[in-house]
Amino acid sequence: MEEHDKYIQALIKLHLGLERQGPGDINYSNHILSLLKELPANPRIADIGCGAGAGALFLADRFKSKVRAVDFSREFLDELINRAKQRGLEHLVEAIECDMGSLDWKPETIDLLWSEGAAYNLTFEGALKAWRPLMAANGIAVISEMSYFTSEVPESVRVYWQNAYPTIGTESENSNHANSSGFKILGIHRLPSKAWWDNYYGPLRENMNSFKHSEDSIMQSVIKEIEEEMKLFEEHEKYYGYSFYIMKAV
Ligand SMILES: C[S@@+](CC[C@H](N)C(=O)[O-])C[C@H]1O[C@@H](n2cnc3c(N)ncnc32)[C@H](O)[C@@H]1O
Repeated sequence: MEEHDKYIQALIKLHLGLERQGPGDINYSNHILSLLKELPANPRIADIGCGAGAGALFLADRFKSKVRAVDFSREFLDELINRAKQRGLEHLVEAIECDMGSLDWKPETIDLLWSEGAAYNLTFEGALKAWRPLMAANGIAVISEMSYFTSEVPESVRVYWQNAYPTIGTESENSNHANSSGFKILGIHRLPSKAWWDNYYGPLRENMNSFKHSEDSIMQSVIKEIEEEMKLFEEHEKYYGYSFYIMKAV
């Protein structure tokens, strides 16, 4: 196995069994949905980069509509399918194993495109451009994206993200990407930092503890990286975080 594949496998292992694979919060998602006024009664929904399905299951339950749930990790999709069965939602969730950058779906068939913490894999701009053709007329996209909350950030924050995610942008830069990709911004809402700790970093830390004595050097370096990421967030959460971009296809 190539180094990079081993790195991804270690990352997946650390995230298995978790409710979520990135920061988010069901109550906050409910709040976001309460702000959407323009959806049809039975929206055609996609959750892209769905992980083990926190968003997909929430949306299926809430709308009682079919959700296309996309991820390239078989392990996460299997967890999603099991959870859907446990919750009696399996008839509403279609787990699709594929690359989010090459969705060959019929154009204009999604009324609600949802993606939490995953668009960065294509870059925010790249994801908007790749997914825009899928949007039905007046369709709504809700995408959470790691964003700078201010244009002046401490040097340590800038250096970290320059290395980890060089195309990270401010909310205003991301709004410009939306405008030039066929979307109109309806609102931008910041996920509270408490959701990071309660629903993501906290449970992830417990999983990391169980691999503390692993002799796999790649696992150890992934754990070290995540600890560094957590420390940075603890010290600088007011400068960056996940912003939910609510956008309408125009
Ligand atoms: C930070 S996690 C977020 C998962 C989920 N949305 C959540 O909030 O719990 C990002 C997800 O994107 C998936 N992913 C990364 N690159 C991908 C790609 N090119 N195609 C499909 N899925 C991808 C990962 O497997 C992972 O499940």
